[in-house]
Amino acid sequence: MQNIAQRTVRQSVHHLHQFTHRQQIILTGRAAAGLWSALRAWGFRNRVILIPANTCYIVLWAVLKSGNVPMLVDVDPLTANVTVEELAKHLTTNPAAVIPCHMYGLPAPIESICQWAQRHNIKVIEDAALALGAAVNGKPAGSWGDASLFSFGLGKIADNQVGGALLTDDPLLAQEIRRLLAAAPIWDDRLRALTNQWNGLYWPLHLYEAQNPDLLNLYPQLFALYGDLTVYQLADDDWADLPTLLRQLPQNLDHRGHLAALYDLHLGINHLTEDSPFLKPLSRPAGSSLWRYPLLVKPELRDDLLAYLWEHGIHDATRWYPPLHPMTITLAPHVNQPVTPTANLLGASIINLPLDEHVDQADVEHITSLIHEFLNAL
Ligand SMILES: Cc1ncc(COP(=O)(O)O)c(C=O)c1O
Repeated sequence: MQNIAQRTVRQSVHHLHQFTHRQQIILTGRAAAGLWSALRAWGFRNRVILIPANTCYIVLWAVLKSGNVPMLVDVDPLTANVTVEELAKHLTTNPAAVIPCHMYGLPAPIESICQWAQRHNIKVIEDAALALGAAVNGKPAGSWGDASLFSFGLGKIADNQVGGALLTDDPLLAQEIRRLLAAAPIWDDRLRALTNQWNGLYWPLHLYEAQNPDLLNLYPQLFALYGDLTVYQLADDDWADLPTLLRQLPQNLDHRGHLAALYDLHLGINHLTEDSPFLKPLSRPAGSSLWRYPLLVKPELRDDLLAYLWEHGIHDATRWYPPLHPMTITLAPHVNQPVTPTANLLGASIINLPLDEHVDQADVEHITSLIHEFLNAL
């Protein structure tokens, strides 16, 4: 007979199957572990893996841990996502795989990316870590590519604090991934403490690295100390909350959509012109499923605006993600990385405003009035 923990795992897999119709769904300690395991399962070693230049650093870590070579790809300025045009610039590196991301839950042109990759015998791992519930051309995020991933980590759309999923329709790939992950350490008090240490260190590093680029010299040592946080598995008990979170996804997404419309309204987003001086939205294609509300702020003002919001108690306004270029060249110094001006500019401009279940209409009104107050005082 199945115990309760096993039942929650089965139910979670069932929900993810309903969302995506993927044949093989593997719950992983975190999304990065799935990424690592897929690259290993395909047998890639010392191969170029194309990753967006504005994605989360853990994607870079997973590629490095898998023994492959990360190559940054610049992104489209209106969507913050990679495109076939940008990817095609790197074809001469003979990439083994590409990891396109639906940044902030905004759908990437994944259909054309998959077609392009297939033509060139390049594997696609669709990164839907921030896009649970999104759809591209009517097909769910998480159902594209040779494999796809979701994250259920802290602050994600379905926030189980930890966890991820790797999805594929290839049973042999799934079998090999399961075999590889079975040998990964189990998430326990030691890994939890190590994660807390790393998060405590990364936050100030991320805050100050633009002002003090010498901080980047610490990354190789920190990767040696904390790189093992990239791959682990969860005990069955750690999945206890996930079925409920997945069952409640429609309400969760409605709430996010409702709050995003309020941000739009109070920021006057729909009336901003192309050359609006301070604020700019990213384009939000049909099928978006917003993780946080992304907003581009004039780079010279971005950090002061964030500091203003933090001073007024809005601590969950963030600036994810910083450009990946600086960390990448310190961790993979032997690789000639392309310049990534658009990702750098987006990294210097982005703020993410909260949309989760703790936020309501009054919060949005308060946050947007603080933003206006700040801009009016300029
Ligand atoms: C875009 C993106 N991809 C992948 C990941 C990896 O997710 P996890 O933390 O579950 O490994 C994250 C997590 O922050 C992310 O933001």
